[in-house]
Amino acid sequence: MTTIRCDRTPAWGELKKKFELTGRQFDLRQAFSADAHRFDAMSLQAPHVFADLSKNLLDIDTRACLLELAQQCGLVAKRDAMFAGERINTTENRAVMHWVLRNPPVVDADQSSDATKNVASELQEVHVTLDAMLAYAEKVRNDEAITDIVNIGIGGSDLGPQMALLALDDYVLPTKRFHFVSNVDGHELAAVLRKVKPASTLFLIASKTFTTIETMTNARSAKAWFEASGGTDVARHFAALTTNVSAANSFGVTTTFGFWDWVGGRYSVWSAIGLPLAIAIGADGFKAFLAGAHDMDEHFRTAPLQANLPVQLGLLDVWYRNFHGFSSRSIAPYHCALKRYPAYLQQLEMESNGKRVDITGQALPFGTSPVLWGEPGTNGQHAYFQMLHQGTDVVPVEFVAVKNARHTLPGHHILLLANVLAQAQALMLGKEDVGGHKHFTGNRPSSFLLLDELSPTSLGALIALQEHRVFVSGALWGINSFDQWGVELGKVLAKDVEARLASGDASGLDSSTAGLLARLRA
Ligand code: F6P
Repeated sequence: MTTIRCDRTPAWGELKKKFELTGRQFDLRQAFSADAHRFDAMSLQAPHVFADLSKNLLDIDTRACLLELAQQCGLVAKRDAMFAGERINTTENRAVMHWVLRNPPVVDADQSSDATKNVASELQEVHVTLDAMLAYAEKVRNDEAITDIVNIGIGGSDLGPQMALLALDDYVLPTKRFHFVSNVDGHELAAVLRKVKPASTLFLIASKTFTTIETMTNARSAKAWFEASGGTDVARHFAALTTNVSAANSFGVTTTFGFWDWVGGRYSVWSAIGLPLAIAIGADGFKAFLAGAHDMDEHFRTAPLQANLPVQLGLLDVWYRNFHGFSSRSIAPYHCALKRYPAYLQQLEMESNGKRVDITGQALPFGTSPVLWGEPGTNGQHAYFQMLHQGTDVVPVEFVAVKNARHTLPGHHILLLANVLAQAQALMLGKEDVGGHKHFTGNRPSSFLLLDELSPTSLGALIALQEHRVFVSGALWGINSFDQWGVELGKVLAKDVEARLASGDASGLDSSTAGLLARLRA
């Protein structure tokens, strides 16, 4: 596989020139009046997700040049290497195969796609585990004695299943309550334990490594509470979702569902980590979630780059970050059930692409991951949209709207849709006002993702779309999007500080940490 870092390609220089010539001054209003077909030319139907990219600050020429950049960087080779099961996560010497988790089983080996030929044994293992996990999920769904499911996990072992479970609330079994405990702050676990009873609770200990301090601390406390409160039968009331089955067994949990080191934590909702979701929406719902993601995998793997939505979004991300210099992206889902979607995307994008060195360890001379943030609309409109419309920084906004509602309350959905359209319009159009305070510059970019309905299938496709767009920008930036060494230092220091908080030993500490430590101990 030959890949070239984006800034070392001829297209990079071309794009720099383009940016100076037309990019910096690009005006969306003029672009729409000059081209009646701009919407058609810059919108795209991918599986289960329609995207209107026409309100973005680029012309057709720039788009072509960005595609050239992707070609020159070797994006296709890198994408194919992922789908061939190559060890593209070089710092951990691992393959990156979360896509295998949503690949249907191969019934006839001769019919298997190019992708699955290389990963036949992994695919088989995936389906053995998936079948076992879904059978267990159905058993729990039918077990009337279990009323509460408590997922204990953090990062990818929390955000994915929690985000999806909330998003699919309309599909969730109403007879069970779901709780998520991630924070080492005991207030969170204590609040959940106050609400549940040992005999009717199932604890899912979700941790890829089964070593994460927050999860292990919460799991230990949950097990201690269970035993102290008269709970019996740990095998029935505790299950572990992990790649480290032996650690789970040593911890005393024998009901386990495994996965593999080639599934990154932030890409693991499709694995055993998705068990709470499978219990909530059932085996068929979970299969539909996987199927939607698989449809997007196939789109990413096979669609030509100019008609490939993850590629188009990833290229836009590079254009904004490295040419316009925009350092953040606001996520605006216009569906209240997508309330954890921005948080989920934060881990996906910022843990994947928040890197300052390339894959060879060399410092990068350009910016990488933007800061992602957001809240569901219309709430965001009454909080920070002021800054999006009139602030000094331009922040590209990514809207998500859902055409059909699943409630029947009159008047609400049309108002919600009117608001999302109006916000995208207002950002772009702006408004002249001589007074200054009421002037809107407009020309503020946005992308618009549209689902027909928020269902397991469309959610699966939307999430896989986001995974692959992060892959695309990471590939062009020449970084390893699949490790996360940046989280390690804080973990190590926390151990040292924990001991010092207990002992009071402040020797060798900076005066700020020493001062705070003394106040906390006083
Ligand atoms: O600390 C970061 C991280 O490793 C994430 O990448 C991961 O999703 C999270 O911690 C939880 O890890 P685990 O599932 O191993 O407990």
